[in-house]
Amino acid sequence: MNANLKSIYCMKSLNIALAAVAALLASCGTPKGNNTQSPMNMSFLELAEARYSVRQYAKTPVEQEKIDCILEAAKLAPTAKNLQPQFIYVLKSAEAIAKVNEVSSCAYNAPVVFIVCYDKDTAWKNPLNGDRSSGEMDASIVGTHMMLEAASQGLGTCWVGWFDPAAVSKAFDIPDNLYPAFMLDCGYPADGSKPSPRHYASKEIGDFVKEL
Ligand SMILES: Cc1cc2nc3c(=O)[nH]c(=O)nc-3n(C[C@H](O)[C@H](O)[C@H](O)COP(=O)(O)O)c2cc1C
Repeated sequence: MNANLKSIYCMKSLNIALAAVAALLASCGTPKGNNTQSPMNMSFLELAEARYSVRQYAKTPVEQEKIDCILEAAKLAPTAKNLQPQFIYVLKSAEAIAKVNEVSSCAYNAPVVFIVCYDKDTAWKNPLNGDRSSGEMDASIVGTHMMLEAASQGLGTCWVGWFDPAAVSKAFDIPDNLYPAFMLDCGYPADGSKPSPRHYASKEIGDFVKEL
């Protein structure tokens, strides 16, 4: 792709992404987060760049309307054949938060933790690839929507894979057909929260792209 075409294409994707974020924000109200720069004024790429994994959370509760917007973003995510195998546990009671901090050292005492599962029976299986399940992919797109909607609402998140799925299923009585793919910690970043050094270790585009 030549440079002009690339920038036109990038602008086009950016416009689509901006329209999507604008539509979400319009239906979900104005963000009221701790960010000094309103995410409303950010382009999609600026929002993506501003996001980082938050591992220190303020005690401030997350407003239910913001949780609702995050779940709306989960609903809007594409899934294979639109089978929507996702199932999400929203942990916010003191009891559930204490429990999740027992089963994972990466819940970081966030005020809200989403456990994003997929239904193994519902997820699409690719017959051209040994019936490989799309569950992880579907759940990950759902989680990415949630993570970026949270960012647009001025909230911090951390994607968490560091847990034993069997222990999590047992702790929260998750039925066998649901696989807890990952957790998403969520809340307002604590004062002094900052990105880990790993956040800045981005490869160059040329290191992971091959044009053919
Ligand atoms: C699949 C996946 C699993 C992750 N698991 C954890 C985890 O268990 N604990 C944690 O603190 N961060 C976890 N992270 C966060 C990554 O470490 C983080 O996204 C990465 O280092 C880049 O940093 P940034 O999110 O601040 O840009 C995970 C991220 C992904 C995508």
